[in-house]
Amino acid sequence: MTAEPAGEGRPGERLQKVLARCGVGSRRVCEELIEAGRVRVNGAVALLGQRIDAERDRVEVDGHALGTASGSVYYLLNKPGGVVTTAADPQGRPTAVALVPRLPRVFPVGRLDADTEGLLLLTNDGGLAHRLTHPSFGVEKEYLAEVQGVPSPHALRRLRQGVELEDGRTAPARVGRVGDRGLRITIHEGRNRQVRRMCEAVGHPVLRLVRTRIGPLADRDLTPGQWRPLAVSEVRALERATGGRPQDGAGRAGGGGRGPGGGDLAPR
Ligand code: URA
Repeated sequence: MTAEPAGEGRPGERLQKVLARCGVGSRRVCEELIEAGRVRVNGAVALLGQRIDAERDRVEVDGHALGTASGSVYYLLNKPGGVVTTAADPQGRPTAVALVPRLPRVFPVGRLDADTEGLLLLTNDGGLAHRLTHPSFGVEKEYLAEVQGVPSPHALRRLRQGVELEDGRTAPARVGRVGDRGLRITIHEGRNRQVRRMCEAVGHPVLRLVRTRIGPLADRDLTPGQWRPLAVSEVRALERATGGRPQDGAGRAGGGGRGPGGGDLAPR
């Protein structure tokens, strides 16, 4: 973790970085929200560059809490292709937050590319969101990638061992075949467009990408566009996966209904 002093001897990270990681928007958008006075930390209007303890400090955006232990809600969405995970899209594409209940306000945990389908967690629990997305917690994310061409054993070995990307070598990954052109890839870093860039680097651009697991969370029954609240046991499993403790108040694991079942996240 890039822990640096937060002022009073506490470790901290820049507020805009935490907000961006929790899916509020790009780093630039988050800076603008702070500059506009729309973000508060522990009740006080936040300052640009302020460092916070993402585990403890209470952060609000437009008065909506981002990451309170009590009253937290957790939704698991099967994000369809073409839906963005940022709060708003300049191109006017639909957003993931618009697919789940409007209040209390939730944020996507991490990013999926607009073209990427599959499981996306949305919550107002900023602490858990932080732990699920920060690479130091190493939470696994599993993807099914349909790729161009038929990857050779050598290509698979390279993906497993780590490939050189412009932002550095990727950590070892678990990679298995699913049919000729399908790959099941499990990573725990979460860099921008990581799976697509890894596959491209070994000569097999991704044609379709579906996230099928977030740590202990999987659901083959959610169809694209469907969401459901997490069960309390699932919230606890996420807490365990991130080394955190199950919190009192995590009991209200979402407030909505579950849509019709069916569906399969396997590549077409
Ligand atoms: N890797 C990618 O390339 N894209 C995603 O959306 C997620 C992981």
